[in-house]
Formats: sequence, structure tokens, C-alpha cells
Amino acid sequence: MAEKRIMEIDRSVNPARRDFLYYATAGAGTVAVGAAVWPLVNQMNPSADVLALSSIRVDVSAVAPGTQLTIMLAGKPVFVRHRREEEIALARSEAVTDLPDQDARNPNLSDGDLASDENRVVPGHDAYLVMIGVCTHLGCVPLGDGAGDFGGWFCPCHGSHYDTSGRIRKGPAPENLHIPKMTVSDGLVLTLG
Ligand code: FES
Repeated sequence: MAEKRIMEIDRSVNPARRDFLYYATAGAGTVAVGAAVWPLVNQMNPSADVLALSSIRVDVSAVAPGTQLTIMLAGKPVFVRHRREEEIALARSEAVTDLPDQDARNPNLSDGDLASDENRVVPGHDAYLVMIGVCTHLGCVPLGDGAGDFGGWFCPCHGSHYDTSGRIRKGPAPENLHIPKMTVSDGLVLTLG
């Protein structure tokens, strides 16, 4: 089976952090991503077949605390954030009843489950937050790396602020950043989509 490797810089987080890599197996319908495994030697855009993939298998165990990996899934960015302890504590200090959107927006749970931080993280791995990186206002890609007034993500298009659990806190976005469908296996291997 033909193999190809695709590498791309994640500009949405920090232009100086160039550790965003793809590893694609062409024709298999899945992509396995190893974070920070290969040094960045080039920059390429994902090809059409990668953008169209609706299922991706990702090993996120090498994502360092305080950093974010961005993966393309079905043409949309998916953020994989390995949060620091203080980010988790901040997210858990907020009462769900104070949130503009109290829905977990997590299709891996039951409809209507609340937007507690525990209901938004990767099961069994509270430090890991995986979200579709599309602002729920009009679809821009939010900036990460502690951006915005709540230390999470900020959408500069119209000023939406998301907290360290990806929940909307201020601005016109009506919903929390959505969690993708996912399963977890082999430690921290995620199957998204
Ligand atoms: S698209 Fe994000 S605030 Fe409008």
C-alpha cells in the first residue's frame, strides 16, 4: 500500500510552534498521526484525499502539556489540547449554571448532558481536550494557546471567547466548541469521526 507523509504548520495556535505533523496512509481511509515524532523539514498543504477523510486514528501521547495539536478531519480542524493542571482547575472552578451554553456538545454522551469539564474531556484522560476547531458563530477558526479573556480560545472574527474547556463565555458564538465523535484505545490512541 502506498504511503505518504504530510507535514503542516499549525498557524492557528502559535506561529513559532512548528510541531504539527500528519502521517497519512493513502487509500486506507484513516490517518495515523504521531505528534512531535518527526522534525519539521517542510511545509505542505493536506491533499484533497486527506481533507476528505471522515475518520482519523491519532496517537496523541506525545502532545506535551500546554501544547495543542491540530488535525484536519473532513475538511475541518480538530484541536487536541494537552492541558496544564491550572487549565483544568480553572475550567472546573466554573459553575455550569453560569455558562451561556450549558450543553456539553459532546456526541459521545447522552443528549442534553451538561457542559461540565468532566463531560468534555477524553474519557479517562482529564488533561486532554479534543474539539472541532470551528467557531460556533460563523465558522472561523479560533486562536488557541491561552487566547482570549478566559485563557482558552479566542475567535477574532467577531470576538468570541472560549474557556479552557472550550465553552463559550463571551461574544456572539451561541454554543460551546463541539466535541467530535471519538473512541479511545491503546492508551491515548484516538479514533475520531
Ligand atoms: S465567527 Fe467566531 S465570533 Fe464570529
